[in-house]
Amino acid sequence: MTRPASFATRAIHHAYDPMQNEGALTPPLHLTSTFAFETAEAGGEMFAGERQGHVYGRVSNPTCDLLERRIATLEGAEAGLALASGMGAITAVLWTLLSPGDEVIVDKTVYGCTFAFMQHGLAKWGITITHIDMTDPEKLRVAISDKTRVVYFETPANPNMRLVDIAATAEIAHAAGAQVVVDNTYATPYLTRPIERGADIVVHSATKYLGGHGDVVAGLVAGSAEQVAE
Ligand SMILES: Cc1ncc(COP(=O)(O)O)c(C=O)c1O
Repeated sequence: MTRPASFATRAIHHAYDPMQNEGALTPPLHLTSTFAFETAEAGGEMFAGERQGHVYGRVSNPTCDLLERRIATLEGAEAGLALASGMGAITAVLWTLLSPGDEVIVDKTVYGCTFAFMQHGLAKWGITITHIDMTDPEKLRVAISDKTRVVYFETPANPNMRLVDIAATAEIAHAAGAQVVVDNTYATPYLTRPIERGADIVVHSATKYLGGHGDVVAGLVAGSAEQVAE
């Protein structure tokens, strides 16, 4: 009988088979913008979304694909998405979920560029940004309305390490029809898996602990396959 792979094993081995890659223990980097097709018809089907495969590097790439599968398994999500930075991940998620007239309720403390994107970016397009103290879930119960589409927080928050109760917050948000987005940069899925606690989407600045060596800028998203595809 085989037992399920542990977190550590999945972090290192998930979704990669060295024997499919000349035995290379370290996954290769696919440094290509475009891809060749067996036939013009196969390429046509891939472009039409009727066949799986890579067509263009901005859309997908085997190296990013592996990274996306890894963050999905570590966060306990259906799917993952790799982006050029943490801010790329955060902006992509919020533009996808929100429309003019919607409200996002945000913790009092969020990373400065996230705060700026909301105040100077989202607000410009008719989205209401409401900051509350999410360390007390009852404050969310009072503030939330049928305009609230997204409840957003970091836990621990940057820079003051305030903690938010993910499960209690998600319960209140879902009862009001809102989605819960958690920036899990500080905890990483090793310490906290927000989706297991009821969050809908997790975002990361992989530039920090997930990258781990201070030599890369990257962003990651984990969530349902449908929302990640959107
Ligand atoms: C909690 C948190 N979220 C998001 C970001 C933005 O990530 P990036 O710098 O990779 O765009 C940072 C960066 O410091 C951060 O600390």
